[in-house]
Amino acid sequence: MQSGYLCPDYRLEDNMYIDAELKQNILDEAPVAEPARQYFFVEECRKIIALKEAEKGRKLTCCINTFGCQMNAKDSEKLLGIMKEIGYEPVETEEADFVLYNTCTVREHANVRVYGRLGVLKRAKDANPDMIIAMCGCMMQEPEVVEKIRKSYRHVNIIFGTHNVYKLAELLFMYLCEEKNQTEILQGTTEIVEDLPSVRKYDFKCGVNIMYGCNNFCSYCIVPYVRGRERSRKKEDIIAECKKLVSEGVVEIMLLGQNVNSYEYDFPGLLADVANIEGLERVRFMTSHPKDLSDELIAVIRDNPKICRHIHLPLQSGSSRILKIMNRRYDKEKYLELAEKIRREIPGVAITTDIIVGFPGETEEDFLETMDVVRKVHYDSAFTFIYSKRTGTPAAKMPEQISKEVADDRFNRLLSLCQEESKLQTEKYVGEVQEVLVEGINPKDPSLVTGRLSNYSVVHFPGCKQLIGKIVKVRLDEARGFYYIGSMVD
Ligand code: 5AD
Ligand code: SF4
Repeated sequence: MQSGYLCPDYRLEDNMYIDAELKQNILDEAPVAEPARQYFFVEECRKIIALKEAEKGRKLTCCINTFGCQMNAKDSEKLLGIMKEIGYEPVETEEADFVLYNTCTVREHANVRVYGRLGVLKRAKDANPDMIIAMCGCMMQEPEVVEKIRKSYRHVNIIFGTHNVYKLAELLFMYLCEEKNQTEILQGTTEIVEDLPSVRKYDFKCGVNIMYGCNNFCSYCIVPYVRGRERSRKKEDIIAECKKLVSEGVVEIMLLGQNVNSYEYDFPGLLADVANIEGLERVRFMTSHPKDLSDELIAVIRDNPKICRHIHLPLQSGSSRILKIMNRRYDKEKYLELAEKIRREIPGVAITTDIIVGFPGETEEDFLETMDVVRKVHYDSAFTFIYSKRTGTPAAKMPEQISKEVADDRFNRLLSLCQEESKLQTEKYVGEVQEVLVEGINPKDPSLVTGRLSNYSVVHFPGCKQLIGKIVKVRLDEARGFYYIGSMVD
């Protein structure tokens, strides 16, 4: 296609690169099918960005800031891939020409932080009026949030949600043409659009989505509302993606899903097949729901040394009464049995967890049940949270919301118990030699490198940057709380 706007004559007024007719022609020409449509818009954006670059006499920069979980981290790699393809140069600082926040809304605190940072970005945009600010991710699936941003944070130019991450190029194109703020939020989707460019944060390890969304509706959780219903990717597509990554030098793959156990096409089989890929050294997964973690899955992990010795098994509460109100569909006894079975069947396995304190109606007795489970399971590591009320979830309407003082007190008691337990767990392996995948130079002490064991524990040891991405044998000399200081053995 002849793109007239490459000729500066087409420039109408400041910041306008395309007139309405040309824009319409381009839109008419855009393929309907994905991902071809997005590749088309990447090309169109690239032409406009090239023109802007020529004007400014420098590359345009972009910065993507990610909040929340591994799913968002993965989406950000896709978003960065699109931006790079368009011609933006990734930078770490928010003093960039394009700044995107990929947001999380699982707890209220995350939202508050984002609003604070948007205020700061306003000043950066005042200094650089050409700056484009975009927001996406889970927070954007909440109508009140979008309304607030459109009303009170008008310097945000592009807003999109979790179901149309792949459409960044199209939305950017529309913004570049019209210089009008763009908002596109879909309420749900059955479509899975893959095969777009992606920039990996690490060369040697990578997350691979196996499914999207969640159908569990735990009563406190906003995820099913903002990420939609479960959609599983086809096994052959996942395997093909993993093989491609391995051919590009990836040695560790993390299979990602809100609840991998409800993967539609046999999760244990998928895990075994990924582990069998030649050249892949390690495979791990995140997250599994205790209600449906099968014996078959435990056996597959046990029998396959390439599958990492780590199971993240969110407890949420140790009280069967609270678990029922949380709609978790297991009770304390069932959870303890499962944890015991995992420890028995898979020697050396680490069990990590998520726990919420201060759920509506939680009594001191309920809380003590949680403490009891922590003492019995001996978690290797635990993420502890104070219950956060999320509008639209059943728990938000429950009476007996717990006071901040009580929740804070329980949180502190739980945290110190979890720290004690993880210290004991870490100490178990001191003196052993284990394999470590080196992830990078230690940011606090450049004479050390940092890596992870199969069980996901962190190890720091003397080394150099040539080790990054390699799996090496390290003696675990000293346990310091939840990490080790080690030394390489050859
Ligand atoms: N309040 C506090 N923690 C929550 N989580 C999910 N929803 C909430 C909430 N409303 C925690 C759960 C989940 C983790 C990702 O976040 O423990 O496993
Ligand atoms: Fe939220 Fe429960 Fe789904 Fe996890 S399983 S994302 S806690 S609803």
